[in-house]
Amino acid sequence: MKPSRLRFKEFLARVRQGHLRGDRLVDPDAVQREFQRPFAGGPRHGRGASGPPHEFKYSRKYLFNEYALLLHGYYWAVGILLLVVLGSSLITLLPPFILKVCIDDIFVGKPLSLARLLPVGSLQSWIVASPKHGLLALVLILVAAEIMGVALSWLRVLAVQKLNYKLAANLRQRLHAHLSKLSLAQLADYRTGGIISRIMSDTDQIIGGIQNSIVTPAGAVVRMVLILIILISTNWKLFAVAAVLIPPLILVHLLIFRRLRPLWRNIQDDRSMLSSRVSDMYAGIRVVRSFRRSATELAEFGARQHTMVRKQYYTSILGRLLATGWAVFVPAIGIVILWYGGLLVLSHQLKVGDLVMFETYSIMLLGPITQMIDSMQAMQQNLGSLDRVCDVLSQPPDMPDKPGAVGVATVRGRFDLSHVTFGYRDDQKVLDDLNLEIPAGSTLAIVGPSGSGKTTLVNLIARFYDVRAGAILLDGRDIRDIRLAEFRKAFAMVMQDVFLFDGTIGENIAFGRRGATHDQIVQAARLANAEEFILAMDAGYESQIGERGNKLSGGQKQRISIARAILADPPILIMDEATSSLDSASERAIQSALDQLMKHRTTVVIAHRLSTVVGADAIAVLVDGRIVEYGNHRTLLAQNGMYHAMFTQQSHQSGDTLSDELNWTPVVRS
Ligand SMILES: Nc1ncnc2c1ncn2[C@@H]1O[C@H](COP(=O)(O)OP(=O)(O)OP(=O)(O)O)[C@@H](O)[C@H]1O
Ligand SMILES: [Mg+2]
Repeated sequence: MKPSRLRFKEFLARVRQGHLRGDRLVDPDAVQREFQRPFAGGPRHGRGASGPPHEFKYSRKYLFNEYALLLHGYYWAVGILLLVVLGSSLITLLPPFILKVCIDDIFVGKPLSLARLLPVGSLQSWIVASPKHGLLALVLILVAAEIMGVALSWLRVLAVQKLNYKLAANLRQRLHAHLSKLSLAQLADYRTGGIISRIMSDTDQIIGGIQNSIVTPAGAVVRMVLILIILISTNWKLFAVAAVLIPPLILVHLLIFRRLRPLWRNIQDDRSMLSSRVSDMYAGIRVVRSFRRSATELAEFGARQHTMVRKQYYTSILGRLLATGWAVFVPAIGIVILWYGGLLVLSHQLKVGDLVMFETYSIMLLGPITQMIDSMQAMQQNLGSLDRVCDVLSQPPDMPDKPGAVGVATVRGRFDLSHVTFGYRDDQKVLDDLNLEIPAGSTLAIVGPSGSGKTTLVNLIARFYDVRAGAILLDGRDIRDIRLAEFRKAFAMVMQDVFLFDGTIGENIAFGRRGATHDQIVQAARLANAEEFILAMDAGYESQIGERGNKLSGGQKQRISIARAILADPPILIMDEATSSLDSASERAIQSALDQLMKHRTTVVIAHRLSTVVGADAIAVLVDGRIVEYGNHRTLLAQNGMYHAMFTQQSHQSGDTLSDELNWTPVVRS
């Protein structure tokens, strides 16, 4: 582990070498190293907000088109918004002009010449009658403008926010809907952190882009153009002199700000890396403690914090520089105008009011200029988010229903697997030319050593993945020709790694069937031998089970997931090591319920325990993705092959705690 000073030095070197791109500090090697470093549970960002930066995948033109599409249906809202922005820009420009009129006309005792523009004769003559009347008229105009300004800014802020909330919600919904259709492999690629950051923070960023690409520039351009026109028409020579100072100010701003943004971003990345390390550490706290890694983790955390503090301090210095630039240039512009403008006033080439107005407007000019620069830079980040989201949206959905896909009215539950070949990756063969038939209503047990492809096989049968070659038929029809939603309705699965949601026990059981009544839930729990421990908990079925059910034991979780399957009551049941965490007594207690459950339906069970396997209608012995033996318990024993070897071996161990488990390890490869 490097000390924080070294890390900071590396960071500075990267900054000095100018590895700044867009809103990122980029050094591909360093970033890659950082992210490939293994950690308990691995880095969690995936290609999320703080994943390795990448060049935009899409062109700017494409992304701007996407923005336009996003706004589709909201054009009128944007139009109104632009009008409001225009209106408020005009109002902010009014006060300096009124001041000028006061100074040049009213204060020197002249009547208000502007009144001549009024159409109403009597009002006009009243205003012109005395400078006091003129002053009152001007004050009233200002009051009206103030009120209008407040009203418009209300309207603007509310309109922008409403639009933002709606668009963000729409986009999130669209993204969520799309993500839910992507393949499991694709989702594994994005990782959980990446998915969350796309749905939550990227959408917010994208919506921020509307402010940065439309609202801010529109207002800024209007004000900038109007101010320029006023300044130049008031006195172009004075404008030319004052304008000399503007480019260096913009340059200083641009240079420092261009540096600052990626640094801020870098610190933000550090923060999220820190927070994900902390969350990893506490998610895997038992592993961390059992391997005595707490101290190391803490030290690493400390060092990273130190590095971050150095970076934060460095960016504050840059930030101060930026502020100083402004603090120097803005008064300088004022001084130059006062000096040269004052000379013009003394030589009667400029009125006093014009000079005052000029000062104010020229300072006001800086606002829209910096707003434009800043929003253009912020846009970079917004586009980055849009790029990531477009990347997700362009992924084809997993297993879309074929145009001619049909529903299944009644499922009898016969499966035929012919020449099934599958691998999770192209270069991998987990299942190899597998042939198997599972008659309707029968129970098939799959046994075999760890990693032989048992879970993979049931994943294919439930169509979590599609076969690479061959076909799986349900009741004689290729499962790829069946509408996926209806196909899945026919299934209940009790998985090897039980997943429970944060909620109550009752809710988790009810996950198996929509609209299940309390009595049905209780009945299912009773059959799964779960009632006893549920009632022993403080709130019974209303007890909270904690994040992923971490307040329950492994066996309790399994019984809940069995209850979930019992409640679902589907024609096809898949159980992957459903009872592996139960002691023999609990297993026997639910065995009768399981037997009952399996009776009327096609069941595929994966088990190391004999109790389930012995009674199955058929047993397939799977080794390295191939079925090496097939039959029922008696015929397989008679074959005197691998199954027989396992069986006799476990019989020899009788009395041992492993006695009723098939033990594959020593004999399998013989
Ligand atoms: N999502 C995945 N991506 C890539 N390879 C995978 C994936 N899941 C499993 N594999 C690989 O496929 C092979 C078969 O795994 P599978 O989970 O089907 O084994 P299994 O027979 O169920 O083992 P166990 O008895 O330990 O549960 C293994 O070599 C495993 O590494
Ligand atoms: Mg498995």
